[in-house]
Amino acid sequence: MQHFISSPFYFPSSLKQLILGFRQPILFLFCLSLFTYTNQTVLADNTLSTNSNPHWNSNYCQTCHASTPTKAKLSLIHTNVSTLCITCHQQNITEKHIHPIGMKPGSNMLSRMSVAFRDSLDAQGQLACATCHDIPMQCLSSRKNEQELNSKFLRGGPYYARSGICFSCHDESKYQRLNPHDQIDENGTINRASCKLCHRDEPNLGEKSTIDKLYFSIENDLSTLCTRCHPWKPHPGASFSFNKKRQANHLRVPPSAMLQRMQVQQNKMGIILPLDPTNGKIFCGTCHNPHEKGILKHAADKGADSKYRLRHTKICINCHDK
Ligand code: HEC
Ligand code: HEC
Ligand code: HEC
Ligand code: HEC
Ligand code: HEC
Ligand code: HEC
Ligand code: HEC
Ligand code: HEC
Repeated sequence: MQHFISSPFYFPSSLKQLILGFRQPILFLFCLSLFTYTNQTVLADNTLSTNSNPHWNSNYCQTCHASTPTKAKLSLIHTNVSTLCITCHQQNITEKHIHPIGMKPGSNMLSRMSVAFRDSLDAQGQLACATCHDIPMQCLSSRKNEQELNSKFLRGGPYYARSGICFSCHDESKYQRLNPHDQIDENGTINRASCKLCHRDEPNLGEKSTIDKLYFSIENDLSTLCTRCHPWKPHPGASFSFNKKRQANHLRVPPSAMLQRMQVQQNKMGIILPLDPTNGKIFCGTCHNPHEKGILKHAADKGADSKYRLRHTKICINCHDK
């Protein structure tokens, strides 16, 4: 149930789909009502544990405010609000979160943003947690009624399509720009902001690299880099599986004979088939190249912008020998 709510964004591939993006509203509301129920069980529990959800809960004001807050004197435990959020949400944020913070909207974006969004930028004029999350909403009893439809206290919400909030800042008519694989603009300039969606630093484009030398915006299970936006269902080859219990789950460690074949094929075909360095497993990026053509050099560039972004047109033969 919670999975449905926190499942990745629905990304429109056309504007029409965006409008149709308001899918299954009934199921969605049903899930929300179950969710409220879970929150109520928390309300009944007075003891604070790190797992208790402190939001929307009059028992837990002190998790963020050192003493009774007023509008004039907030008495926050951390004066930097994003730091406050990250003390508890590090895990969530580094592994699942859709959007980085600390970037400055340009003047065009600023002019699209409403006053409420603009005022919520941090002291340096950069995106912070409080830019998209309207925190006082979960503080004030007068706003408690907003919880049911907007449990994540999204600023300007509730949004009926998951991509709704994105267009508070990004240009809806250029919605394709929310595609993180679109990395070079019309003038041929590399869009460095897109890299931050997956890379913690700016990888050095001059040098040939390998996956274990990179720092990603998540710390383990690299597939979650992609499943934030692409819902995962077992593929490819799922249709070949006659035994429902044994789906073609490709996100696993290849047996050693296959590893050898992969090595041979990479040299022969001039491609890379990188494995997740944290666990040795195949991940989305083993078969798909998430970059725009021209960003990377040599073998790492192969498959960029190809059909389904596959690293090789006959991808299967690089691991399977029939
Ligand atoms: C998760 C942390 C957190 C919790 C829990 C929390 N607050 Fe807050 N609260 C904040 C932050 C951060 C701000 C400042 C928001 C800003 O300036 O954008 C704030 C602002 C406020 C304000 C000023 C609102 C305004 O109109 O500007 C009041 C009053 C307040 N909180 C009361 C409470 C009360 C009462 C509770 C318990 C029911 C509570 N808070 C729970 C983090 C929290
Ligand atoms: C004291 C720890 C703590 C702090 C501080 C905290 N959170 Fe949370 N938050 C939680 C827990 C626990 C949950 C519920 C479990 C989960 O899903 O992670 C939660 C849930 C949420 C949710 C989902 C709400 C829901 O009910 O679906 C959002 C959005 C959120 N937090 C944002 C923030 C933001 C923004 C801040 C900074 C103002 C913040 N949190 C500060 C502990 C905290
Ligand atoms: C650009 C807007 C934006 C910014 C900035 C942002 N968030 Fe969010 N956040 C969202 C949206 C949109 C969702 C709702 C996702 C959904 O409905 O699936 C969300 C969901 C969450 C959740 C619930 C996740 C879950 O799995 O249920 C937490 C926790 C959270 N945000 C915390 C934070 C923290 C902490 C920060 C600052 C480091 C932050 N957010 C910055 C837009 C933002
Ligand atoms: C509060 C404003 C704001 C909101 C809301 C917001 N973004 Fe962003 N986003 C930015 C800023 C600022 C950048 C930095 C680059 C820039 O200025 O375009 C950025 C960059 C990006 C990038 C990489 C660079 C690019 O322009 O292609 C993507 C992809 C992206 N955002 C997707 C999203 C998605 C998806 C959502 C909705 C969940 C969203 N954004 C919501 C402000 C926002
Ligand atoms: C959607 C996620 C995603 C985005 C966005 C992204 N990358 Fe990557 N990047 C990866 C993954 C996964 C790998 C490891 C697999 C590979 O090499 O392709 C990687 C690898 C790399 C490598 C090492 C390639 C090698 O093996 O030699 C470089 C350099 C790099 N990225 C640069 C960039 C730059 C520059 C940008 C922004 C223009 C960017 N990336 C945007 C996910 C991403
Ligand atoms: C911020 C959201 C986001 C993230 C993160 C993301 N993608 Fe995408 N992806 C998109 C969008 C938007 C498109 C283009 C629209 C479409 O065709 O669905 C796309 C397109 C694709 C396609 C082509 C689909 C087709 O039908 O041709 C593949 C394959 C893909 N992404 C793989 C990945 C992989 C692998 C990763 C992780 C390394 C990743 N994506 C991370 C949003 C994302
Ligand atoms: C073993 C190779 C392999 C792995 C691993 C893999 N894919 Fe694919 N993917 C394919 C192939 C081949 C296709 C072409 C269509 C098909 O055969 O299903 C495809 C199609 C896609 C598409 C476009 C079609 C669609 O259903 O929208 C997306 C998006 C995609 N994959 C995302 C992912 C993500 C996200 C992951 C990781 C969670 C992943 N893939 C892991 C091989 C792979
Ligand atoms: C990166 C390597 C890789 C690629 C590429 C790849 N596979 Fe696989 N495949 C595996 C591994 C590993 C297994 C697990 C089998 C094992 O452990 O012996 C597997 C298993 C399967 C299974 C059997 C499922 C089961 O467990 O009974 C099918 C069917 C399958 N793959 C089809 C495909 C198809 C079709 C393609 C191309 C579209 C493909 N594979 C591409 C690595 C790969």
